[in-house]
Amino acid sequence: MYLFYGAGDKFKLVGKHKRVMMLIQRGKVRVGIQETLTGQPDFTEILQCRLPGGISMGLIVEAVEVGPMQVLCYVLGCPPTRTGLLIDPAAASDAIREIIQRHQLQIRWIVNTHGHPDHTAGNEYWRQATGAQTVMHHLDWEFFSTPDMQQAAEAEGFPPLTAIDLKVQDDERLALGDLELQVLHTPGHTPGSICLYTPGHLFTGDTLFVGAAGRTDLPGGSLATLIQSIQDKLLPLPEETIIWPGHDYGDTPTSTLKAEKEQQIEVASVTLFSR
Ligand SMILES: [Fe+2]
Repeated sequence: MYLFYGAGDKFKLVGKHKRVMMLIQRGKVRVGIQETLTGQPDFTEILQCRLPGGISMGLIVEAVEVGPMQVLCYVLGCPPTRTGLLIDPAAASDAIREIIQRHQLQIRWIVNTHGHPDHTAGNEYWRQATGAQTVMHHLDWEFFSTPDMQQAAEAEGFPPLTAIDLKVQDDERLALGDLELQVLHTPGHTPGSICLYTPGHLFTGDTLFVGAAGRTDLPGGSLATLIQSIQDKLLPLPEETIIWPGHDYGDTPTSTLKAEKEQQIEVASVTLFSR
């Protein structure tokens, strides 16, 4: 588990490298990158180096790394209504269950950021466990539910994609209690990749990682399309938006659009060395 969320004045070191910190103080959550790793964390330092904007406590966000490919699953919740949503719950996981119980969430949606089997492998387990509806962009449903792609998933040791309750398209909204998540269709990593946006937060799946874009060399991928998706759909969002990627591949598990704009984004397209 990476992130701490709670009431009161609390903080916790988060992230594999213990560099990203979250401070919860007087109703505001602030995320910062700790520049030094020596000694006890220094609140003054955290506040000085916090990422711009801070975020409100209007959304419960917790992250758990699950499954053999270490997918970052996000558990989201609306605090007043306790309505919950899972993003890419890639396997049965006691950690996910513990978060749901701790926040007393009723999970309404299970959203796949895309149809790759490492992200969808837990769909049926969590659908049965929570009664929630599964959600995917219709293009990835069509692409990954074919017999060939089902066989490919099984060959990799994952369950085949056989059912999705709600096939969405660009700009659809998912109600989450008093909140709303906007579906942004961001093809490129796969034909039906999506990001989920609510003010302050952007859940990017394998479209955008911290410091890198998703790979485009897998079936259905397109580098030109991915770049266009990021430029047209993600970069116009407010700079203080926190990005929550589908894998912890960067120096830190989360970042902001401002930070990503300021660095050269590496496109992780694999070029095979051949003669
Ligand atoms: Fe993927």
